[in-house]
Amino acid sequence: MSRYHYPPGYSFFGTYQRALKVVKSPLETMMESVDRFGESYSVADGFSGRMILTQDPEFIDYVLRRNHRNYNKSRMVTQKLGRFIGNGLLTSNGAYWLRQRRLIQPGFHPQKIKDLYVIMQATIDRFLEQFPAGDHVDIYPLMNRLAFDVVVNTLFDIDLPADTIAELSRFISEIQEFVITDIRQPYNSWWFEVSGRVAAVQRKAERVREILRGVVRERKASGRRYNDLLDMLLDARYEDTGEGMTEEQILDEIVILFIAGHETTGNSLAWTLYLLATHRDELETLREETLDLSTSDTVAHPRLQAVINESMRLYPPAWVSDRVSIEDDSFNGFTYPAGTIIALFYYGLHRSAKYWEEPLSFRPERFLRQKENTRIFFPFGGGPRLCIGNNFAMAEMALFLRSFIRKFELQPTDTTPRIRPLVTLRPEGIYLGVHPHGRGKS
Ligand code: HEM
Repeated sequence: MSRYHYPPGYSFFGTYQRALKVVKSPLETMMESVDRFGESYSVADGFSGRMILTQDPEFIDYVLRRNHRNYNKSRMVTQKLGRFIGNGLLTSNGAYWLRQRRLIQPGFHPQKIKDLYVIMQATIDRFLEQFPAGDHVDIYPLMNRLAFDVVVNTLFDIDLPADTIAELSRFISEIQEFVITDIRQPYNSWWFEVSGRVAAVQRKAERVREILRGVVRERKASGRRYNDLLDMLLDARYEDTGEGMTEEQILDEIVILFIAGHETTGNSLAWTLYLLATHRDELETLREETLDLSTSDTVAHPRLQAVINESMRLYPPAWVSDRVSIEDDSFNGFTYPAGTIIALFYYGLHRSAKYWEEPLSFRPERFLRQKENTRIFFPFGGGPRLCIGNNFAMAEMALFLRSFIRKFELQPTDTTPRIRPLVTLRPEGIYLGVHPHGRGKS
């Protein structure tokens, strides 16, 4: 018998019986497990260990914030993703992560993000000018594209050749696709190595770095200032040495901003448009209230923020996250050894009737009425590793939504989108009618 007191859960055989179901429909299976065992439960991890899954907000807060020093990111992020995208903010742990976070954090201060509004808005305007309106528009690829363009343009406020951007976008998607396959098929890891697939993806990752290296070197040689995120990374100085990052470190961080900064935002925008199209009263109220706002009022507009938050409550782009305990630990009567993986199931918490009234309804006003949702709402994670791009993302989404609904009318179609819980919660098949809106045709 184990000397640890894990949360209740599946036996060794129960875990493996359930494994196929988890791969096929992770959200439903995890929610069923919560119904059966409670907010925290455990499954076998290998022959002797156990993994804990929780949607208890107190436990999540304990791991992310109150006892964060005892937790690292798991191998899934640091190695499976890190071997392609390098060792930067998202993929590092411990002292190296803290040093990078301290260095880069000031560049994401709300005041600094304000300097990027002009670039964001110009990117959005260009995108909307070419938006392929119609009766049956496939929304997700378009939102993904917009979010990618915003990251490219805020990182590099220069016109990169279209084929370079296309190559970057393609390789980044291919790297992400492979990492998803690798995580979902752990039993094939050996095959991916020997068949040369890992090496092929590594070559693509190296090609991405080569392109970016060229951009960074050109920037350094030009001596010009652009006040974009690349300037911020080049200017940043470590407190202790007064030195800047090496070129390789800068490349690591750029690739990470690409990966962390676009799919999440693209997903969230696609779900938000879907929710607005299917809740016409919300769409109309939002349009009325935001029609004549200035840029900074748009970013701070309470209803816009409430709509985005309510969308991320129902469809949190980061639907699950994980940590590994560094030393033995205990929470609320449960005890577990060093090396225990804890999966933080935000999707389940955000839809739990224990904390949310009518949890499955889209009701943005809950975020207007009750601002103190922070302890049960984790779209950007929490604690010291809270998403560094949260203000960036909120600003980008608010600016986009205001401009979009000013220009276009949205109608639902008879298709129902599917939720694909990959590394992020990706929508599939959001088809909407999108037509110019009478008043906004400026
Ligand atoms: C709706 C959009 C976004 C969502 C929902 C989101 C969500 C998250 C979450 C949940 C984490 C923490 C992961 C964990 O604790 O394991 C995270 C980390 C991170 N995000 Fe975001 N993110 C978004 C947009 C962005 C943007 C726009 C950027 C950059 C431009 C960005 C950059 C990062 C980075 C660098 C980290 C790692 C921070 C660290 O560990 O210190 N994210 N994000």
